Amino acid sequence: MKKRYMWKKINDFSADHLKGKLKLQSELKMPGLTIGDTCPNLDVETTQGKMKIHDYVGNGWVLLFSHPGDFTPVCTTELSKMAQYIPEFEKRGVKLLGLSCDDVQSHNDWTKDIEAYAPGCKVTYPIIADPNREVIKQLNMVDPDEKDSKGQHMPSRALHIVGPDKMIKLSFLYPATTGRNMDEVVRAIDSLQLATKHKIATPANWKPGEPVVISPSVTNEQAKEMFPNGYKTVELPSKKDYLRFVNV
Ligand code: BEZ
Repeated sequence: MKKRYMWKKINDFSADHLKGKLKLQSELKMPGLTIGDTCPNLDVETTQGKMKIHDYVGNGWVLLFSHPGDFTPVCTTELSKMAQYIPEFEKRGVKLLGLSCDDVQSHNDWTKDIEAYAPGCKVTYPIIADPNREVIKQLNMVDPDEKDSKGQHMPSRALHIVGPDKMIKLSFLYPATTGRNMDEVVRAIDSLQLATKHKIATPANWKPGEPVVISPSVTNEQAKEMFPNGYKTVELPSKKDYLRFVNV
């Protein structure tokens, strides 16, 4: 009898635990916001006033990136780096939109630290405030493991590259413990923008100026027309001619 009671307790505990986990997941997770989805057109409060995300995107590209919290070490370095890279983003027609879950007053105070950390840089981009964690849920930016001192969920280091059609073209998702590499962000933008101009893809470790590969959907006949200066097919054991390099 005692044993049966103990098993019941264990089963109840497991069921409750599972229910709690599922509830948390459904509360937190935006249903599948990912590449190819339209970025939700949320009303957001930022350090530059209220705005609708789509109005900010306009006809350009936007980097929408979140941070776990204000006055935290890695985030401070990331926002400084973002500010230092503004000229690189501007060259590519990309605007920045940051997010951290604290309020606007806190963001404004923190901005002084961010600018002091990288002298000469100015945080000219808006930072969304999300003290109620509504925006991060909608944008799939919640870190399931990180909580603040009040037990509230915090944003992960998520980054969505939003295209002129307001769709998500690429997403990075890093945990709080790993700061992002802005060179990789710029490289990803270069790859995305090149792939909108030509039927190409960029290979591993590609850098701007290096050869790219012709998309598998392009036949050799089409490739000859599309790339009149020629392309190079790599001979492979399979004898399938799918790895075709071209300069664009
Ligand atoms: C940071 O930005 O340094 C950080 C924030 C939350 C957890 C760990 C690190």
